[in-house]
Amino acid sequence: MCTGLLCAIIKVSMEGFVMKISSLHVFYYSFSGGTRKVVHEFARGAALPTKLYNTLKNPPDPKACFLKDDDLTLIAVPSYGGRVPAIALERIKRMHGLKTPCVILTTYSGRGYDDTLAELRDTLIPNGFKIIGAAAVISRHSILRELSAERPNVEDRTQIRKFGQDIKSRLLECSNVDQLATPDIPGGPAPYRKPKAMIIPYGTKDCDNCGYCVKRCPRKAIPFDNAKRTLATECVACMRCVYECPRHARVPKITFANRNANTVDSSNMSCEFFLG
Ligand SMILES: Cc1cc2nc3c(=O)[nH]c(=O)nc-3n(C[C@H](O)[C@H](O)[C@H](O)COP(=O)(O)O)c2cc1C
Ligand code: SF4
Ligand code: SF4
Repeated sequence: MCTGLLCAIIKVSMEGFVMKISSLHVFYYSFSGGTRKVVHEFARGAALPTKLYNTLKNPPDPKACFLKDDDLTLIAVPSYGGRVPAIALERIKRMHGLKTPCVILTTYSGRGYDDTLAELRDTLIPNGFKIIGAAAVISRHSILRELSAERPNVEDRTQIRKFGQDIKSRLLECSNVDQLATPDIPGGPAPYRKPKAMIIPYGTKDCDNCGYCVKRCPRKAIPFDNAKRTLATECVACMRCVYECPRHARVPKITFANRNANTVDSSNMSCEFFLG
């Protein structure tokens, strides 16, 4: 039993050494909404003041890309061909931390996430982030909607909230982020795997050649004189044109090879969580 004064001294000295975490900054990329759902669950678990940025629409404001040591950061992307979607990667490369605690997360439909987490880790560590946790969450396929259609399910959501809680507790239990180890995660090192099957979008008969997607395509993969076409060698399957076409006139083309590569039963597969 400690006296009131002693307890107060212990409390003050402990508070002096405990890490301060002011807010959660979430940078996510979500074409069909699965990753967005998942980051919301994480944020509910972490229960911190939260700022969310969907990096598919626009790159985040340059000021938002500089994170401090008291900004818990969550970077979340879907796995495309076992890799980070190219546009997301370009945007993530602009982010800088100052020993900033960071959690990396990928969603995938069950085929596999291969090097996605490794690529995130290897991009963020040199930019000043300390990776303290990682997760791979099964989520409905953006295009082949019958794949993992029920995921994330109630159990997945509970686990993701718990993961958010655990990350926050770990941070609040230490005095310095260096006390937390970077978890071992599957995948990597570079060179990373080359995606095998690409799902490339094309224009439909509803396209009126307005040219919007031609301007917005980050790879100049849509010819200005015929927006129904796509230069397959340039397209990185980021899906921005599908997402942004005002006439909903660009659709991903699913070939037999895509379907074969993606026939997988994920009903017994669990989400994975990695802590150091
Ligand atoms: C172009 C493309 C490639 C994909 N590649 C993979 C893959 O390699 N492995 C996998 O399990 N899922 C793959 N998927 C499925 C997505 O990773 C999964 O549906 C993800 O949760 C979608 O996130 P979103 O709903 O936030 O857009 C791919 C989806 C697209 C559109
Ligand atoms: S934005 Fe849509 S309607 Fe306009 S050119 Fe592209 S596909 Fe066609
Ligand atoms: S054609 Fe569409 S999916 Fe391909 S790179 Fe351009 S915007 Fe992305």
